[in-house]
Amino acid sequence: MAYTVAIVGATGAVGTQMIEQLERSTLPIAKLRLLSSSRSAGKTLQFKGKDIVVEETTESSFEGVDIALFSAGGSTSAKYAPYAVKAGAVVVDNTSHFRQNPNVPLVVPEVNAHALDDHKGIIACPNCSTIQMMVALEPVRQRWGLERIIVSTYQAVSGAGARAIEETKRELREAVVDGVNPKDLKADILPAGGDKKHYPIAFNALAQIDVFTDNDYTYEEMKMTNETKKIMEDDAIKVSATCVRIPVLSAHSESVYIETKVIAPIDQVKEAIASFPGAIVEDNPSQQIYPQAVNAVGKRETFVGRIRKDLDAPKGIHMWVVSDNLLKGAAWNSVQIAETLHERNLVHPTKDLKFPLE
Ligand SMILES: NC(=O)c1ccc[n+]([C@@H]2O[C@H](COP(=O)([O-])OP(=O)(O)OC[C@H]3O[C@@H](n4cnc5c(N)ncnc54)[C@H](OP(=O)(O)O)[C@@H]3O)[C@@H](O)[C@H]2O)c1
Repeated sequence: MAYTVAIVGATGAVGTQMIEQLERSTLPIAKLRLLSSSRSAGKTLQFKGKDIVVEETTESSFEGVDIALFSAGGSTSAKYAPYAVKAGAVVVDNTSHFRQNPNVPLVVPEVNAHALDDHKGIIACPNCSTIQMMVALEPVRQRWGLERIIVSTYQAVSGAGARAIEETKRELREAVVDGVNPKDLKADILPAGGDKKHYPIAFNALAQIDVFTDNDYTYEEMKMTNETKKIMEDDAIKVSATCVRIPVLSAHSESVYIETKVIAPIDQVKEAIASFPGAIVEDNPSQQIYPQAVNAVGKRETFVGRIRKDLDAPKGIHMWVVSDNLLKGAAWNSVQIAETLHERNLVHPTKDLKFPLE
């Protein structure tokens, strides 16, 4: 059995990486359909050396599609995912739109692939900053339990899409080549495309990712809190996040502080993370070895280092977690979900999903 696969948002920062991940995938693919908005329709992209013409996404785009990977913003998923499901496709959605819906499993395959067993046609891929933290922390949770997580992120601009990458490159050029004072650089997108004000990212750090919620945390921060509880199936885990954008193009870094339920010997913590699928420990202070964003770009794994005991709290541990936000944080995790569905014989039409979802 070989599938017809569609990517919605194929021309975007994540979508183009999905094409590459599908080229490297074990998923049997008979046909790939590339969908975008009308802006990019007619453009040509390559898959396995062959040209594919990008088509505008419409309600009838999904006839004959078995697996639809959505990565074109929440409103596009809200509008078109129901048509994909009705046409008999399984949707893997990379946006935040369905993530908290009780009918939609939220999956990091290494952590909770079992949640796929009962899917009803839509599977959500978690937020990029949540995914890499789950890969680092699940082996610790399994063995010693998790009481609380306090995370500060240092996130790459590609997390905000292709236009944010271009904005950052332009600002860096203007600051370095033209000598413009970073304070005077013109910004149109960051920190959040949909917000009122925009600030330069070149030579800067912006303590805002997505817009603010009523509790003064941003949506990105609340995604980390809520998604962690859903994926780890434990509402009692305390999670607070501070999400910061920095002028790195790709790969998010995170300073993660955890408190375990019982005391965890640090050598055993390192061993547990090192033997967890998808995680690589890079941790040798005497040789200055620790994960770095530039080394993580293009890799599917999550890199963990600086693993050390808190100096005061006996159950407290600090670590530094780095991963390519466009790959494990988005494109690879989505393709990996599709591979897992195939391996488990779960690529089948919807059971009883009714729209709009309750
Ligand atoms: N970047 C990350 O690290 C990351 C990580 C996790 C999740 N996500 C999520 O993934 C989604 C895409 O992110 P991105 O960074 O790839 O954004 P992007 O670079 O801005 O790309 C957006 C894509 O969506 C398409 N699109 C926009 N409006 C559309 C519409 N009305 N109908 C059909 N297609 C439409 C665009 O097509 P055109 O070329 O025609 O404009 C483009 O292909 C977002 O929901 C984002 O939150 C991103």
